[in-house]
Amino acid sequence: MNILILGAAGRISHLVAKYILSQTDHNLILYARRAQGRLKVTVPGRMRLVDGDFKHTKPLLEALNGADIVYVNAMDDTEGLKNILAAMEEKKVKRFIGASILGIYDEVPGAFGAWNKRMVGTERIKLQAANAGLVEASELDYTILRLTWLYDQQNNRNYMLTYKGEAFRGAQVTREAVAQLIVDMIDEKSEKYLKTSLGVSEPDTDWNKPSFY
Ligand SMILES: NC(=O)c1ccc[n+]([C@@H]2O[C@H](COP(=O)([O-])OP(=O)(O)OC[C@H]3O[C@@H](n4cnc5c(N)ncnc54)[C@H](OP(=O)(O)O)[C@@H]3O)[C@@H](O)[C@H]2O)c1
Repeated sequence: MNILILGAAGRISHLVAKYILSQTDHNLILYARRAQGRLKVTVPGRMRLVDGDFKHTKPLLEALNGADIVYVNAMDDTEGLKNILAAMEEKKVKRFIGASILGIYDEVPGAFGAWNKRMVGTERIKLQAANAGLVEASELDYTILRLTWLYDQQNNRNYMLTYKGEAFRGAQVTREAVAQLIVDMIDEKSEKYLKTSLGVSEPDTDWNKPSFY
């Protein structure tokens, strides 16, 4: 399959690309602002770079040529997200996986929920909630990832999921774990992740705030 990563210069995107190359036979289309200057083709024949912003329709349509699955590493640009959804519809690419944030359904209980709201801010949460709503209202086979607080730890790929309607659990998760989850989802044969919005965290981190705060 051909996996299109939108926002490919981002930190989770780098890990997703690395894991796809090492763990699978899939090809990569890497889409980023100034992609040619910032990203490298390390495996010729399996990688293609496209320069562009989410708001730029022409390069986006070009990047979607032949794509089977799209991973979007940021969902806070409303105009850009609308453009991505329209371009996917036009190119008949159905599978969307996107990175959002925890708290968009007011689903984070207790002291951690209050801390998160204070730290992220109501306006940013509202924006992400509205943008997630655009994806949920689409015809796409989407998975929205509501990521908890991110940190980096090599070889820590532990993740757990909570489902829409459930209380959110977990104050932190590594970017390595999120990237592994995305690769696992790409290779998932069942339809269990389609049309879902999942809370993503590390097991046994039900704390009042992340350990690094
Ligand atoms: N930090 C946390 O604790 C936390 C918690 C929950 C969720 N999140 C979310 O998780 C996501 C992934 O995390 P990360 O660490 O990998 O983020 P990151 O390194 O900031 O990557 C996001 C990427 O998206 C790209 N992007 C954003 N808008 C774009 C646009 N309009 N056109 C083209 N590219 C665009 C950025 O491009 P440029 O490099 O060109 O700016 C950046 O490379 C982020 O969206 C973040 O908001 C973060």
